[in-house]
Amino acid sequence: QNPEIMPTPPMGFNDWSRLECAINQSVFTDTADAMVSKGLLAAGYNRVNIDDCWMADTRTEEGKLTWNETLFPKGLPWLGQYLKEKGFHFGIYEDAGNETCGGYPGSYGYEEVDAQTFASWGIDYLKVDGCHVTPTTEVEYHKRYAAWHDAFSKMEDPLIFSQSAPAYFSLWLTGSDNLTDWYTVMDWVPYNGELARHSADVLVYVGVEGLSGWDSVMQNYNYNTQLARYQRPGYFNDPDFLIVDNLELTLTEKKSHFALWASFSAPLIISAWIPDLPEDVISYLKNSDLIKVDQDPLAQQATLVSRDDSFDVLTRSLANGDRLVTVLNRGNDTASTTVSALRLGLQATESIYSAKDLWTGEAINFKGELKINKLASHATAVYRISLSGLQSLTVFPTGMIFNA
Ligand code: DGJ
Repeated sequence: QNPEIMPTPPMGFNDWSRLECAINQSVFTDTADAMVSKGLLAAGYNRVNIDDCWMADTRTEEGKLTWNETLFPKGLPWLGQYLKEKGFHFGIYEDAGNETCGGYPGSYGYEEVDAQTFASWGIDYLKVDGCHVTPTTEVEYHKRYAAWHDAFSKMEDPLIFSQSAPAYFSLWLTGSDNLTDWYTVMDWVPYNGELARHSADVLVYVGVEGLSGWDSVMQNYNYNTQLARYQRPGYFNDPDFLIVDNLELTLTEKKSHFALWASFSAPLIISAWIPDLPEDVISYLKNSDLIKVDQDPLAQQATLVSRDDSFDVLTRSLANGDRLVTVLNRGNDTASTTVSALRLGLQATESIYSAKDLWTGEAINFKGELKINKLASHATAVYRISLSGLQSLTVFPTGMIFNA
């Protein structure tokens, strides 16, 4: 697996969480136009990805995939060209089984021919889902996802490979808390593709999981915190989409979702009706300090250094030597806390640190401990601590928990 295929996480749009199968050509052209006019493309959101339900009911006589002509009257190569001219990359969806989750032709046995078809339509990013795979064992998923990996390996210009499969056999489904089981999956997944899903769909499938809104964001967040050590330039854990016009989330919760995903260097894929997004949402999505963190070339995923009844504290290193500190108030009340420099693996007493609040842009100095005052329920504070001229006591080991 080649880290140059995707050194930093993808940013863009996918229709699924917002529209499910209610897609057509103008959904994607209108979305792309709005991403340009609202400044999202310029901010880095440069991918438009189609999810399930785009296909015709059957393959062509030559065994190739083709699009639903009613939904896409001008065809997908035309759409690809439209997107390319505006400056976007074009991504699409298939399934490793015999059918997609929505019941359209699956790719089992057709991986090479489908990869060629997608490339010929101007597509450079493929999400491969995991419905209708039997038996639903890790061994079977590994086999099918390896077939996709092999198909891409034979291409001069391989597609970015976004893997859904781990989510189909990992902890959220089994209810197991045996992390060892889960981690065996990571012996192959990060070497097989550029992205992997490990948790349920953010928000939907209430019937399966019984979770929605903030609880579902928190579930995916919690799973992701346990996977930090596998991430690196070229492989990213994928805790699913940013559901930025979802009615169940408050603005505070949406901003937290964004800040946590940026702290993770997770994919920033918006699943929303972008033409109607209000300015307050557009404005936080374009926060360039947080986007810079998300796209940091070191690609570290922030790790949890402490959790109490209300506050999670996460930290990570950034490529220029700075340190990120992310503080989430999981509790139901506005509250204040302090984060000691020691807890972050920094010299505890003598140094004066300068930090930037990545929400307000405000510069602050602190000694010994960073004070987080009156953080609203479900809000996330993010600071970038400059370490230039200072010596860090430890290089922060991802996955390690300090009890300072
Ligand atoms: C399940 C996936 O997890 C979703 O993201 C979406 O791709 C649907 N399948 C499409 O059927």
